[in-house]
Amino acid sequence: MLLEIKENPAPVLRQKNVKIKDPLAPEIQELILNMFETMHQAQGVGLAASQVGFNLRLCVIEVEEELYTLINPKITAKSRKKILLDEGCLSFPGIFLPIARATQVQVRYLDQAGKPQKIKADGLLARALQHEIDHLDGVLFIDRLKKSKTKDSKQK
Ligand code: NI
Repeated sequence: MLLEIKENPAPVLRQKNVKIKDPLAPEIQELILNMFETMHQAQGVGLAASQVGFNLRLCVIEVEEELYTLINPKITAKSRKKILLDEGCLSFPGIFLPIARATQVQVRYLDQAGKPQKIKADGLLARALQHEIDHLDGVLFIDRLKKSKTKDSKQK
């Protein structure tokens, strides 16, 4: 089932997202399927539960035809090295902004079966992970734009 994607400034995007206690609960499993369907249809790389109206620590990502379901994800390590690239968000249709992100991250999470997983990612996957996990903390990419800009101007 396709879900409605909430666009900025929908309050749900800024609200607290709670941990999922039972990843195998039927309503969570159904939400995951619906989020993948909604993300595909919108041709997105990632989608967080808050973007479809659920304040849960859950996001889905598709990079290079690989699907990731991340339940209660946490970034455990991040490279110091950052890269500035144009980034978009399904809650900001048609807007692409240069955002600085760590080139590499390590993330711990529960997969769709509720199994603990650990990944080390770079490239687009590293960027998508940082973007989506930000959503779970109510942080939107426009917030990072300000920070990137401030940093750049300080360096100059
Ligand atoms: Ni987004």
